[in-house]
Amino acid sequence: MEKLQKALERARLQRQAILAEQAAAGPGPSEGHADDRKTITYRETRVVPTLERSLSERRIVSGTFQEELSDTFRMLRTQVLARLAAEGHTTLAITSAERGEGKSLTAVNLATSVALDPRHTVLLVDADLRRPSLHRYFGISTELGLADYLIDDKPLARCLVNPGVPRLVLLPAGRALRESSEVLSSPKMARLAQELKARYPDRIVIYDLAPLLRSSDALTVLPYVEAILLVTQEGTTKKSDVIRALELLQAFHVIGTVLNRSSEKVSSYY
Ligand SMILES: Nc1ncnc2c1ncn2[C@@H]1O[C@H](COP(=O)(O)OP(=O)(O)OP(=O)(O)O)[C@@H](O)[C@H]1O
Ligand SMILES: [Mg+2]
Repeated sequence: MEKLQKALERARLQRQAILAEQAAAGPGPSEGHADDRKTITYRETRVVPTLERSLSERRIVSGTFQEELSDTFRMLRTQVLARLAAEGHTTLAITSAERGEGKSLTAVNLATSVALDPRHTVLLVDADLRRPSLHRYFGISTELGLADYLIDDKPLARCLVNPGVPRLVLLPAGRALRESSEVLSSPKMARLAQELKARYPDRIVIYDLAPLLRSSDALTVLPYVEAILLVTQEGTTKKSDVIRALELLQAFHVIGTVLNRSSEKVSSYY
């Protein structure tokens, strides 16, 4: 826990520094895709078409299948977008206390649901560099991603993928790292987060994070985002873990919680 406290203190200081910098910062360099909201031509971003049915099999919302799931995420989308808009925010992180509580599936479904609304574009970032998974949800074999950009200076445009969902761009993690905290706390990551936010001011950027109580990775990324969703899993997440997680999140802006695998009907899912 002492390690997490130190990470928390670092995160607080970092957040203050970032807010000060953001006040003075301008837009960052292009990441290589044209974006006019309704019709998007991906010039440099790799496009990997995904079959709707295969998305559906992985419990990902799509236009045709999984109606109940789509409704659920439309409701979450409405609430999240309203909250972000009211506060003038565009960056959101998804985290949870422990492993396997549904962070990544929530991130994928929320991002897809927002992108299915033609008024929005979305960038989904796999910032769980220890246990990356977003590419698998889209059935993509990733070659390059965030880790390769941060460590090997690979061009960002070569890391981005359009997974066949219009208006959605994925920045996969790339190769998995064992020591990811240092990479995530590097100045290059801080600059990237600023660029991703500033490049298209009304694009929603969603970060899928590591669990809060396992390492300092999530706390390292949280200073770069404006809002947080905390995922819990019915019947699995311990109350004591939620309390510890919320303590760690005190310095940040939690806009809501998601109760995953809820036994209740859609209307009370969240
Ligand atoms: N509501 C759900 N219904 C059915 N399966 C689910 C649900 N939520 C998550 N799962 C499954 O549980 C597993 C863990 O989900 P997910 O990858 O979203 O968790 P996570 O919190 O990101 O895990 P990690 O901490 O390892 O990153 C996956 O196989 C996912 O498909
Ligand atoms: Mg995950």
